Amino acid sequence: MRAVFPEGFLWGVATASYQIEGADFEDGKGPSIWTDFSHRLGKVNSGDNGDIACDHYHRFSEDIELMKQLGVNSYRFSISWSRVLPEGRGKINRKGSDFYNKLIDRLLEVGIQPMVTLYHWDLPLELHRKIDGWESRDMRHYFGDYSSLVFSEFGDRVKHWITLNEPYCSSHVSYLWGEHAPGKRDLKTSLTVAHNLLLSHGEAVRRFREVVKDGTIGLANVSTFVEPATDSKEDRWAARIRDQFINGWFFETPITGEYPSELFKRFNDAGVQPLIEDGDMDLISTPFDFWGVNYYTRNVVRKEESSILGSEVIQGELAKTEMGWEVYPEGLEAFLYKTFKEYGKKPIYITENGMACKDKLTDGFVEDFERVDYMKRHFSSALSALKAGVDLRGFYVWSLLDNFEWSYGYSKRFGLVYVDYEKGLKRIPKRSYYYYRDFLERD
Ligand code: FCB
Repeated sequence: MRAVFPEGFLWGVATASYQIEGADFEDGKGPSIWTDFSHRLGKVNSGDNGDIACDHYHRFSEDIELMKQLGVNSYRFSISWSRVLPEGRGKINRKGSDFYNKLIDRLLEVGIQPMVTLYHWDLPLELHRKIDGWESRDMRHYFGDYSSLVFSEFGDRVKHWITLNEPYCSSHVSYLWGEHAPGKRDLKTSLTVAHNLLLSHGEAVRRFREVVKDGTIGLANVSTFVEPATDSKEDRWAARIRDQFINGWFFETPITGEYPSELFKRFNDAGVQPLIEDGDMDLISTPFDFWGVNYYTRNVVRKEESSILGSEVIQGELAKTEMGWEVYPEGLEAFLYKTFKEYGKKPIYITENGMACKDKLTDGFVEDFERVDYMKRHFSSALSALKAGVDLRGFYVWSLLDNFEWSYGYSKRFGLVYVDYEKGLKRIPKRSYYYYRDFLERD
C-alpha cells in the first residue's frame, strides 16, 4: 500500500516533550504547568508525573536508532519551552537548546526530517504564576518571542513547524473540564484562553515569516468526527453545534477570521463570549501553510438543551480502545475530506493517530494485533481521502514509545515500542513496530 502514496509523503511517529523527555529539573530546565499539576495530589492517575518519563533526554540516540530501524522519514516532536527559556522569557538556557541541537542534527544524519511543535501543553510555570498564563492577552508577545528565538536557533535545519498542538485541549480540557493543567473549570475563562491561544498562533506565524524563508508552518488540531445520534432535526442541529465547538472554533476561525456564528451567538447570549479587540481577527487569520489533523475517534451527539453546547456526547456502539474511544477509521477519511473542502484547501498532515491497548509483555514480547489492525484500517482510510483529492502529505503514528499519557499517567500505552517502567525503561518493539517497519519497507 505504501507505494500508492505519493513520492515524498512523510511517514513518521509523533511524541511530545513532557510525555517522554524526563530530566524535568536538569541542566537548568524550569518547571512547567505540568510539573506543578502532576505533583498535586489527585490530579494524575497513581500520582504519576513526568520527572523521568521515558528518560528520552538521555536516551535520544537509542530512540533515534529505533526510528531509523523502523524506516520512518520524519519525526514529530515538541520543544519544551521551559527547557530553552526556564522562566518562559529572558535569557536562553544553552544546555536546553543544545539538547535540541543534538537531537535535530542526529535525526538529519540518519535521514529523518524533523517536524517540530512549538507548544504541546507544557507552559513555563513562571508565566502562569506571574502573568496568569494563557488567561493573559500578553501571552501572544511571550509566545511570539519564544517562537522567534526557536526559529532562529533551529530554523536553518527544521523545515516543518507546528505552532500549537490541539488548542482545544489547552483551553477547554484544561480550563473548562479541568482534566489537564492548570485544572480550572469555567467556560468564560476557557474561551478567553482559546482566544489567546489563537492570537498566539497567528503571532508565531508572523514571526516565522520574518525568520525562516524556506519552511512551512501549520496548526495541529483535535479532529473528532461528530455524528448525530439519530437523523432527527434536533440531533443534527446538536451535532452541528458540537462540531463548531470541538472543530470549527479552531479550524474555521484561523481561515475566515470569524468564530463559527451559531455557537458564537449562543455564547454571546450567555455572556461568556471572548473579548475581541481591534486587529485580533486579522492576527488570528494570518495565512499559514498546512493543517495538522490529530485523529483518534468520533463523537456521537444528541440534543441536550440544558447544556450551553446544546448537546451531549453519548456512548457509541463501536468497539473501543483502552481510552474508551470508539474505533472509527471511516471518520478519518470523512474528516480529512471535510477539512480540505471547508477549511481553506490546504495541504494536510495527519499529525497524530494511534490507539491505547492493554499491552502485555509475555515472554519478552508484546503481540498488539489490535493496534496493527487499527493502523492498517487508518492507513487505508487516509489513502481513500487522498484518492478523493485531499492534499494529504504525511502520516504520523502516535506514538513511538509508551509514555506519560497526561492525567492517565503511565496507565495507558500508545507506543509502537513498549517501555518497561519496572525494568530500567527498557525499550521493547511491539508487533505493531514490526508491522509498520514492513509496511514502510514494501516500496
Ligand atoms: C492527543 C495529544 C497527545 C496524546 C494523544 C493520545 O490529544 O496531543 O499528546 O496524549 O492525544
